[in-house]
Amino acid sequence: MRNIIFIVISMLALSCSNKYQEVLNSADDYQIIPKPKELTITKGRFLLSSNTSIISDTSLDLETEYLSNMLTSISGITLTIDSSASNSGNIKLELDNSIENIEGYKLSVKYDAIIISGKTNIGVFYGIQSLRQLLPAEIENVDNEIAELTIPAVEIRDSPRYEYRGMHLDVGRHFFSVASVKKYIDLIAMHKMNSFHWHLTEDQGWRIEIKKYPKLTEVGGFRKGTAIGLAGTKNAPYTYDDVRYGGFYTQEEIKDVVAYAGARHITVIPEIELPGHSSAALAAYPQFGNTKGPYEVAKRWGVFNETFAPTEETFGFLEDILSEVMELFPSKFIHIGGDEVLKKEWEESAYAQEVIKREGLKDEHELQSYFIRRIEKFLNANGRNIIGWDEILEGGIAPNATVMSWRGVEGGIAAAKQHHTVIMTPGTHCYFDYYQVGEEDQKKEALTGSKRYTTVEKVYSYEPTPLELSAEEGKYILGAQGNVWTEYMPTWDLVEYNVLPRMTALSEVVWSTKKNRDWEDFHMRLEHIVKRYDALGYNYAKHSIDKEKDKTK
Ligand code: ACM
Repeated sequence: MRNIIFIVISMLALSCSNKYQEVLNSADDYQIIPKPKELTITKGRFLLSSNTSIISDTSLDLETEYLSNMLTSISGITLTIDSSASNSGNIKLELDNSIENIEGYKLSVKYDAIIISGKTNIGVFYGIQSLRQLLPAEIENVDNEIAELTIPAVEIRDSPRYEYRGMHLDVGRHFFSVASVKKYIDLIAMHKMNSFHWHLTEDQGWRIEIKKYPKLTEVGGFRKGTAIGLAGTKNAPYTYDDVRYGGFYTQEEIKDVVAYAGARHITVIPEIELPGHSSAALAAYPQFGNTKGPYEVAKRWGVFNETFAPTEETFGFLEDILSEVMELFPSKFIHIGGDEVLKKEWEESAYAQEVIKREGLKDEHELQSYFIRRIEKFLNANGRNIIGWDEILEGGIAPNATVMSWRGVEGGIAAAKQHHTVIMTPGTHCYFDYYQVGEEDQKKEALTGSKRYTTVEKVYSYEPTPLELSAEEGKYILGAQGNVWTEYMPTWDLVEYNVLPRMTALSEVVWSTKKNRDWEDFHMRLEHIVKRYDALGYNYAKHSIDKEKDKTK
């Protein structure tokens, strides 16, 4: 009897979904960012109903749960999960080894079945993200009730152009809650990006709990005030608000964020800045500085003379810290900073000069290189690789280092020519703390640190593989990343405002084929995705959606 009832219900559902079999869809139904490699529009729509099951097996548990939560929260329908149901009327997740790229996927939507196949779980996850963007933006808001949810038929074959697709966040200058960081990770996932570069230590604040050195956060996690406005110029001497400011993430919170990102196939790459940008660490442990202090957690922005002393004690201290960092972060890469290291203290330090002599180094640049090589050796011995800002090229690059090219593209080109892997983050296209509008409109915007600006169109025009490289050298370009320095972003709202929609443009730069990149076409899809930002409650630069206002003047 039960079986008969089941068959009757299933037939009813099928006849109901039959009405969708012949529907002709319009191009408007397919607004996916980043643009998939191949997308074929077909006839018909899949009806999501209470009879829909997800078919998958335990190897895809996380993806099944993600999809089930997504569809349940938007439709109010609880989907059953069944490894043995037939494809008819259902959504199937599967691994398919014939797909070439480890992040590649296929998505097939027909009126009576959806199949998402990935080479690995990552591909299946990205297939789910594409499926999500085939659903109306209203699904993103759990308060919306959608009576009938249908998905337009399509055949997609997709894989990314670059293996590294990142977003960075500076939590040193301003500190942001775990909830905000997770909201950031959600954005990274929606855009099929796969790396979150978490800039955890700065002159203005040390943000990661290290058990062996509790003062790093007790002392280094807080500053006694913050510079007000665009201070530090001749006509605007520094003034401070004198309000104690700070915060840090406990190791439990870090584990939670790493797991949250991992479930979305995002690797969290921690950055521990050395040997410069270290005032906060030195305020906590002055014995590891050249002058022995006293130091204070910086209250203003900029580049400081304070650096770690190149002593055995300092290396021991840094190795202890990095050991705890490695316990928390499973990423292959650990970012060790290396940028903006002023050499004054080393020039004046008898001990640093002794090291230069002892090690046969030419100058302080080579001392920096020695410093980085020591740290690299330690991390390599523990199975990890370093990323450093492009200054690590000066004085000789460490043997296995990856370069993050930020002062333009030259560092990236030089590194690739030396057969080092590279992540491109040139300020011109990838610094999302720059204004989004030209000088005449900047007065209407929240203050940023300079008059430089980068429009969405400019981000979209970026080509991460420099033309100067041969095809062989070009293989060393792993991808690109958007950087978000937060000196002038005291609130989370401002972070979102600066990131969106520029990261949406970057996501297509790093994912889609060159052939598939078309500004006009992207812009149409951008106008759709903002409805998703709205439904999800993200703040964004609305004027940047207006093509005319976004023009680079
Ligand atoms: C940097 O912007 N100092 C890497």
